[in-house]
Amino acid sequence: MRLENKVALVTGAGRGIGKAIALAYAREGADVAINDLAASVKDAEAVVQEIKALGRRAMFAPADMSLKTEVDGMVAAVTKNFGRLDILVNNAGFTLVAPSVDFDEKKWRYSIDVLLNGVFFASQAAAKDMMKRRSGRIINMGSIAGLGGIPERAAYCAAKAGVMALTKVLGCEWAQWGINVNAIAPSWVKTDLVAGLIAKGMYQEEALTGRVPQGRLAKPEDIAAVAVFLASEEASYINAQSIVVDGGMSTYIYLESWLKDKAGK
Ligand SMILES: NC(=O)c1ccc[n+]([C@@H]2O[C@H](COP(=O)([O-])OP(=O)(O)OC[C@H]3O[C@@H](n4cnc5c(N)ncnc54)[C@H](O)[C@@H]3O)[C@@H](O)[C@H]2O)c1
Repeated sequence: MRLENKVALVTGAGRGIGKAIALAYAREGADVAINDLAASVKDAEAVVQEIKALGRRAMFAPADMSLKTEVDGMVAAVTKNFGRLDILVNNAGFTLVAPSVDFDEKKWRYSIDVLLNGVFFASQAAAKDMMKRRSGRIINMGSIAGLGGIPERAAYCAAKAGVMALTKVLGCEWAQWGINVNAIAPSWVKTDLVAGLIAKGMYQEEALTGRVPQGRLAKPEDIAAVAVFLASEEASYINAQSIVVDGGMSTYIYLESWLKDKAGK
């Protein structure tokens, strides 16, 4: 048990990577608050029940991460219910795909509000509690999209690059209060959503995996394992870093056909 009796808050944990992280934390002995949109109450409550079945305490902490008042209320509700907050995982997110030249202003602002501003305001609120005990871990969900450029995902790439820059600043600034701030930067993760889009033919799995030297997409559990490590004592000297978890994808710049040719031999 690497997180025994720790209190964690995972945003966007009703499904996907956030859910995998929340369950992994509970298996390691943490009590977990599940954030998601109020509209996702069914998904979130199902995760709460799964965590309770593991013998840990759990609660649903609804908030739209784009709204500072809701974010502050969420952190206050969690610290009131559990007495403190040891680990914050800023995971909530989504991707909008549109040609940059016509990117809708409202959608642009909402993307940045959820993906970047929400991460900052949640970190601020959590740090106030963590500073009192001079201890805490903040783990932000970046993306290799923040390292490179993906056409028609301008807000997503810009926000993720911002999250990884924020990770450096807050990690350096808050280390004196015993708070480590790190990010995880995954490539494609085969969540239910992504698997569904592949099944519908909207993404070609072979084309995606062809870009990955390991020849497969990440599983949510691959990301959750790193989130457990970063929250654990073992990672106490890792701070202000973005850990790329991509099977080598962002480093691999040769042709997909080279991998295919080798596989055929
Ligand atoms: N899946 C991938 O391939 C991938 C790759 C790199 C990074 N990421 C990042 O990982 C994180 C999780 O992605 P996922 O694939 O699990 O997505 P997902 O869509 O399966 O889950 C995201 C969750 O966030 C919630 N959410 C969305 N907007 C919210 C808001 N305003 N307030 C509160 N909750 C909100 C959703 O309701 C959902 O439950 C995101 O930050 C995403 O950018 C995903």
